Amino acid sequence: MSIVIRRVRADDWERVRDLRLEAVRDPDAAIAFLHSYEAEAAHPAAFWQDRAANAADGDAVAQFVAEADGEWIGTVTVIRWKDGDTDHHGRTVSPARGDVVGVYVRPQSRAAGVIDDLLGAAADWAAGLGDGALALDVHVDNRRAQGAYRRAGFADTGLRFTGSIGPELEMSRSLAAADSVAP
Ligand SMILES: CC(C)(COP(=O)(O)OP(=O)(O)OC[C@H]1O[C@@H](n2cnc3c(N)ncnc32)[C@H](O)[C@@H]1OP(=O)(O)O)[C@@H](O)C(=O)NCCC(=O)NCCS
Repeated sequence: MSIVIRRVRADDWERVRDLRLEAVRDPDAAIAFLHSYEAEAAHPAAFWQDRAANAADGDAVAQFVAEADGEWIGTVTVIRWKDGDTDHHGRTVSPARGDVVGVYVRPQSRAAGVIDDLLGAAADWAAGLGDGALALDVHVDNRRAQGAYRRAGFADTGLRFTGSIGPELEMSRSLAAADSVAP
């Protein structure tokens, strides 16, 4: 099975929506995603068209998907916040920061390195734009996600906060060439 990692295109919006609606029904969704299935399912088509278009182009947001023989099996998104932006937790960003969000690998494709390839694509994209680090937030109880992030070079920064899904911790990874994770 050949796995291809690529950035979404604007015309992928229905697949972007469908994978998200699957993700937010995952058994671990309550410790993984900030929005419920009900909230996401209520969005009109225009919401998903905008989301895909924004994630497909430009330097602010990029969504990457893993495709196995054309089937989408996982996704990550990078948001590059500018100084003064309000982030997805409602916090004022300072200094500018890149966050990995919306991380999901379909159950049948887990423990197979797909997440490593997705996080690698996210890191390459941010590094290519000159960023020195990537951050992410993860629920303290989401041990599986933390394990995958650690393997990809993310380390606990020590920051703790309580968001809408409960206690979260921040992890960060340097994008300096010498710190990149060997394949
Ligand atoms: C998080 C997710 C993307 C990780 O991808 P994955 O393919 O399942 O990850 P892997 O199995 O390759 O890696 C998980 C790591 O955690 C470890 N792990 C698995 N379950 C664990 C548990 N219950 N406690 C501690 N560690 C655990 C694994 O051993 C592995 O570490 P290792 O490589 O050092 O052995 C995927 O599980 C997923 O989509 N989960 C649901 C959505 C989600 O939680 N998203 C993240 C939101 S922050």
